[in-house]
Amino acid sequence: MSADYVKVAETSEVPVGTMKEVEGTQILIANVNGNYYAISNKCSHMGTPLSQGVLDGNIVTCAKHRAQFDVTTGKVVTRPKVAFLHPKINDVPSCQLKVENESISWSNSNGNRQTRQSHFNRHGKTINLVRISRAV
Ligand code: FES
Repeated sequence: MSADYVKVAETSEVPVGTMKEVEGTQILIANVNGNYYAISNKCSHMGTPLSQGVLDGNIVTCAKHRAQFDVTTGKVVTRPKVAFLHPKINDVPSCQLKVENESISWSNSNGNRQTRQSHFNRHGKTINLVRISRAV
C-alpha cells in the first residue's frame, strides 16, 4: 500500500448497512451494499456528528434536526427541520476510500490529484478529503 494512504479501519469494523466514525478524525465511513464511502462526520447545519444519526441505504439522517445526506456523494437530500423552517445547508465533503486486504484507507497526500480542500460553512474549518478508488 502506498505511503500516501493511511489505514483508518478494518472492513470487519463497518459491516454492510452500518457506519463508523474514524477515531481522531471528522470522517464517517459507511458501508452501502459492500461499498465503502466516506463523508465528513460533521453535519453542515450545526455540526452534530452524523455518526449519531441513522443510516438507511445510502442516506444518513442527522440525529439533531433530521437533515439527510447521501453518503455516496455528501450531497444534501433533505434540509433540516427547525421549528417551521427548513434552512438551506451545504453539502458535506465526501471522499472515496481504498480497500485492500480488508483494510480501509484514505489518502492524506496533498499531491493526490483527487485531493480537495472543502470548507465547513458554519465554523470556517477546513479539512482535506480525498477521492480514492476501491481496489478489488
Ligand atoms: S445539526 Fe444536523 S440537522 Fe441540525
